Amino acid sequence: MKGCVLFFADLVRAIEPVPRGLTMDFIRASSYGSGTESTGDVKLKTDLKKEKVAGRHVILIEDIVDTALTITTVARHLTEECGAASVATATLLDKHERRLLAYRPEYVGFVCPNEFVIGYGLDFDEEYRSLPYIGVLKPECYAHLGIAAASPDGSGESGDE
Ligand code: IMP
Ligand code: MG
Repeated sequence: MKGCVLFFADLVRAIEPVPRGLTMDFIRASSYGSGTESTGDVKLKTDLKKEKVAGRHVILIEDIVDTALTITTVARHLTEECGAASVATATLLDKHERRLLAYRPEYVGFVCPNEFVIGYGLDFDEEYRSLPYIGVLKPECYAHLGIAAASPDGSGESGDE
């Protein structure tokens, strides 16, 4: 949730004409890994009511789809547990080189190279979210954590949708 908040705010204000019946909700997803990689153990925190989703067409807004473990878990929750009529994904960035699950977002802003990026909502250990641009985090910023370049997910927790 936190990662996509700037993109979400810009995107919804750009939809023309203003859609009737559009509602917004938020799901918080966190994946816990051994240090540098997600285990796929994605936890969802939401007070989303099933009856608000049942039978409706949902567009998931994401900051970045990387391994696709997070988005797959959220999409499955919305269809299997909440009964959404359909689920599509709009992601600002698609780092498709690192996919662990086959997942192709319906709407992609930019393809992202296999680098760790920060800014415009995206964080490293909760820092840099407010940068008004997206940049590649220099490996020396996380070298002290003993994390290899391009996957500096060393906090043990990643992924706030
Ligand atoms: P996935 O489950 O591996 O597809 O990615 C889940 C989450 O990891 C994303 O929603 C982001 O919060 C985070 N993430 C993945 N790559 C990056 C990155 O390059 N910078 C910041 N966060 C990232
Ligand atoms: Mg995210």
